[in-house]
Amino acid sequence: MIAIEDDARLTQLFSGETIRNRVAELGAAISGDFSNVSEADPLYLIAVLKGAFIFAADLIRAITVPCTIDFLSASSYGTAKTSSGTVALRHSLSVANRHVLLIEDIVDTGLTLQRISDELTAQHPASLGICTLLDKPAARKHPVRIAYTGFSIPDRFVVGYGIDYGEHYRQLPYIGFFSS
Ligand code: IMP
Repeated sequence: MIAIEDDARLTQLFSGETIRNRVAELGAAISGDFSNVSEADPLYLIAVLKGAFIFAADLIRAITVPCTIDFLSASSYGTAKTSSGTVALRHSLSVANRHVLLIEDIVDTGLTLQRISDELTAQHPASLGICTLLDKPAARKHPVRIAYTGFSIPDRFVVGYGIDYGEHYRQLPYIGFFSS
């Protein structure tokens, strides 16, 4: 495990300011696209834990239309840098007839979002969209339709801004990757 203090081995990919600006743009785009929601029928944000918790906290403050938020727990990595190939989901959400927007940190193989989408679609939401901060299109194995993408990135393992390696590095205010 690389110590957090050993930041020299982390190369910054997106600064806190770059992320802030992009999150503001995403919030504006989402608010524009969901201008028809109301207090009675608000946009239903569902953030995927744990990786999306910081992104979701910033994104919701950039959304100007009525919305509510819940959280869903998904895990596939454990302490490894590659997906285990199975996704464990934990939630008790009711999404029938709701306009749902899933908030994810990274779409990698697509397995996690495919599992979540399948499970929620079975409840017949009014609509189901995906907003991801990062997309690694080169790693895709399971097709997912993404409505909002913060940044497309190469197939590299990244940390920071809520994203972990073995539960570490989530508190970094930027997103970086390890240099060898
Ligand atoms: P997928 O199911 O392969 O699309 O993986 C999605 C999940 O894997 C993300 O929500 C992250 O939690 C995790 N993940 C994918 N790539 C990375 C990475 O580069 N760093 C840390 N976690 C990652």
